[in-house]
Amino acid sequence: MKRLNTEWGELENLVLKDMSDGFISNMTIQRQFFPNDEDQTGAAKALLRLQDTYNLDTDTLSRGNLPGVKHKSFLTAEDCFELGKIAYTEADYYHTELWMEQALKQLDEGEVSSADKVYILDYLSYAVYQQGDLAKAMALTRRLLELDPEHQRANGNMKYFEYIMAKEKEANKSSTDSEDQVEKETEVKKKDYLPERRKYEMLCRGEGLKMTPRRQKRLFCRYYDGNRNPRYILGPVKQEDEWDKPRIVRFLDIISDEEIETVKELAKPRLSRATVHDPETGKLTTAHYRVSKSAWLSGYESPVVSRINTRIQDLTGLDVSTAEELQVANYGVGGQYEPHFDFARKDEPDAFKELGTGNRIATWLFYMSDVSAGGATVFPEVGASVWPRKGTAVFWYNLFPSGEGDYSTRHAACPVLVGNKWVSNKWLHERGQEFRRPCTLSELE
Ligand code: OGA
Ligand code: FE2
Repeated sequence: MKRLNTEWGELENLVLKDMSDGFISNMTIQRQFFPNDEDQTGAAKALLRLQDTYNLDTDTLSRGNLPGVKHKSFLTAEDCFELGKIAYTEADYYHTELWMEQALKQLDEGEVSSADKVYILDYLSYAVYQQGDLAKAMALTRRLLELDPEHQRANGNMKYFEYIMAKEKEANKSSTDSEDQVEKETEVKKKDYLPERRKYEMLCRGEGLKMTPRRQKRLFCRYYDGNRNPRYILGPVKQEDEWDKPRIVRFLDIISDEEIETVKELAKPRLSRATVHDPETGKLTTAHYRVSKSAWLSGYESPVVSRINTRIQDLTGLDVSTAEELQVANYGVGGQYEPHFDFARKDEPDAFKELGTGNRIATWLFYMSDVSAGGATVFPEVGASVWPRKGTAVFWYNLFPSGEGDYSTRHAACPVLVGNKWVSNKWLHERGQEFRRPCTLSELE
């Protein structure tokens, strides 16, 4: 009686209480941290970039069959359709076709989905038409009309395609052989010329032109004491030649796991999207060709950073007091830095002027993680690929002894395909190197 009498009112109040108000206001707070449209298109474009760079076919990508992936996740027909739509709004009909085809394929294979074949075929036939395959565009439109005979645009397109087809047949009849010849010649030219982009992608896939054995034989590994640096005479470090021209060397076991952890923890709260100099405005902006997060660490804030700086100074013989602070960078999936020079070119003389330390004479780059797939550092001018190996570092000079920039040092960070990439780098500058020599024992004390 108590339950159904006294307590009933409480139950009634509970039932009448509107829970959605609290929920909605809670969600409004959370919402600001959700990805937005820009994030979503950015992610889609990154996926398409990965597909091109690593020659991944759409089916492989959709089924998540990637090297180094432990827990596969796959794309639904609807996901594929969304990707295709994003490519379409970018007027990228090549990828529109690939992803619409994939969506269709998954539906044909019986995937249960809310994706609609008619919509997919509509986009697909247009993308195919845009790329000049009229016959295929017609076949696709015919398929669409079988599903929806009244489809207005498809009916219109069909008539248009037939008209164009007829006109082309007419034109073909009267075309001469010499015209065909011209076409063939330009095709050959296209094949011979490898733009930087293609070289970059090949190197990222590890398809670099191999060095001749004769040249390779001149690459060595050794123990290095920093040119009789007192701190390394008893405990020299392992060094490997990665490349000869430009000379790129790799130091092994040069940063410990504990040091890496410390550097990452110091950097994490400060990581923000990396920027580049906009040549037009001279201001720092974000750019699609540099996708990573970075932070700067000073030697003053931690003995670990200071120790790392000293190590670089000892092993390169270059004064680090004029160097930039230690930069820590983190690349997520799709993160990359397209081909660039680390030094300032003649046409941008003001880039490092404020620093008063001259140009970036050399680059030291620590690899602070292994990368499951992708993420190499590549040099497209010379064909070198350097693969990340946790605990190692690479070093090269950006400038010739004359102070001229060495254009063969143009390099890039390949997009990460699977996993996460951590690096940190030190850019050493010209000033302070004029009278450098290794320090003596008495100076160490
Ligand atoms: C750079 C750079 C290479 C890499 O930050 O300037 O070239 O592999 N990085 O991260
Ligand atoms: Fe660089």
